[in-house]
Amino acid sequence: MTDRKVVLISGAGRGIGASAAKVFAQQGWSVSLGMRRPALPEWALDDVHQAVAYDATDGRSAGAWVDEAMSRFGRIDAVVANAGIMIPKTVIEADDEDFDALLTVNVKAPRQLVKAAWEPLAASGRGRVVIVGSLSGKRVKSARSGSYSVSKFAAVALAHAIRHAGFERGIRATAVCPGFVATDMARGLTDRGDAAMTSPDDLARIIAMLVSLPNEASVAEFAVNCQLEESF
Ligand SMILES: NC(=O)c1ccc[n+]([C@@H]2O[C@H](COP(=O)([O-])OP(=O)(O)OC[C@H]3O[C@@H](n4cnc5c(N)ncnc54)[C@H](OP(=O)(O)O)[C@@H]3O)[C@@H](O)[C@H]2O)c1
Repeated sequence: MTDRKVVLISGAGRGIGASAAKVFAQQGWSVSLGMRRPALPEWALDDVHQAVAYDATDGRSAGAWVDEAMSRFGRIDAVVANAGIMIPKTVIEADDEDFDALLTVNVKAPRQLVKAAWEPLAASGRGRVVIVGSLSGKRVKSARSGSYSVSKFAAVALAHAIRHAGFERGIRATAVCPGFVATDMARGLTDRGDAAMTSPDDLARIIAMLVSLPNEASVAEFAVNCQLEESF
């Protein structure tokens, strides 16, 4: 078993997931990057990190990824379920295929991944789970974000449910709920410039901080915003 702590990060090829992978690596973790097209980033050392094929729409993908991480590292200390999609349609415009896609990637896949990694997470006595939710999982901001919001409310509930399921075994789970983050996803939704959005690097530092907290400092939700709203 490796001495380094091991984190699995889904959607680690770009955006928030790519930033999180780099920050964890900088903090001494071995990172298992889950990607649709696995390729180690330039900063990643081959003997410390791994890139694994992971497709959130394939129900067998999580188990295969966990098996690869365990056979390589022998431990899993944290899971960051980050991969997600946004379909900017109102709940009236969206069809069943849209809803299936949102719920599959944003809700079912994170559950499958955490479930697959459950025993290794519990074995450490301080396993950590971060579900990258959204402020759209806390409030419905607009009609167009409505369908996405439905999936992200469920993702936030998933984090809470994991927190309950794992607490006795030392697993702590947090729903991280950002507003606009300067990634491809937000650039496709808003005219704001990158500088007016939360930086993915700052979000990555927040995720790493949450994972670093002791069992006695459980954070159920962490909301972060680049703009003023009533409660966030
Ligand atoms: N950006 C924001 O403003 C914002 C705000 C709140 C919450 N979030 C959430 O933050 C998370 C990361 O989003 P981001 O902003 O980094 O967006 P992004 O730049 O669009 O990246 C999305 C990531 O998810 C991966 N992904 C999508 N579908 C996948 C699938 N079927 N299987 C495996 N990976 C898949 C993508 O992989 P590929 O490279 O293969 O496409 C990519 O790595 C998402 O859960 C998103 O909902 C984002």
